[in-house]
Amino acid sequence: MYSIAIDGPAGAGKSTIAKTIAQRLEFIYVDTGAMYRAMALYFIRNGVDAKDETAINAACEKIHVGIAYEDGTQQVLLNGENVTGLIRTEEVGNMASKTSAYPKVRATLLDLQRDLAKKADILMDGRDIGTHVLPNADLKIYLTASSKVRAKRRYDELIAKGEEADLDQIEQDIIIRDKQDMEREIAPLKQADDAVLVDSSDMTIEEVVSCVVEEFEKVK
Ligand code: DC
Repeated sequence: MYSIAIDGPAGAGKSTIAKTIAQRLEFIYVDTGAMYRAMALYFIRNGVDAKDETAINAACEKIHVGIAYEDGTQQVLLNGENVTGLIRTEEVGNMASKTSAYPKVRATLLDLQRDLAKKADILMDGRDIGTHVLPNADLKIYLTASSKVRAKRRYDELIAKGEEADLDQIEQDIIIRDKQDMEREIAPLKQADDAVLVDSSDMTIEEVVSCVVEEFEKVK
């Protein structure tokens, strides 16, 4: 069984790239950010303060995150409820970034993530997959892009959806999120020593996909 870990900052295009590669290689795609987002949704719904670690820890006891697949697409279950359509907001993303710094939050998800990798060929994306979750992954990719490029991609997505967007504000938010994810004590976002660095700033999706598939062919 093979495992591929893709880590990198918010907006680097991990999920788009990961989904395409997983399809091509016939691997199961696991989006770990969605699991942190499901927990964040629980905290928001229940008025748990992101700064109150005791309250967060108590809430973790009441959370069960599960994963299911519908037509090959990952669904995230929060205490049995399919919350996949509710977790892609900025509010949930920010809450996930803040609360994922707590050991108990990370421990709640670690076993689930590792168990998934025992069952099938998987491609897992997140922040700490190559460094912590799957330290023995067959291939580790650190996918990044400049904050300007990441902000512009996000801006274009919002405009395409007919939403309002402020490019500078988006870039500021991305910089804050990077800082939170990289400077936390436990399992911070960083490139694993044995990861291949891919900077997608000047690459198309297809170029990144081909590059990762080529890297996989080398280690297979
Ligand atoms: O990739 P994303 O935007 O869906 O992730 C949301 C947050 O979850 C991210 O800011 C940090 C956290 N996260 C994490 O700490 N570890 C992971 N493996 C994946 C996400």
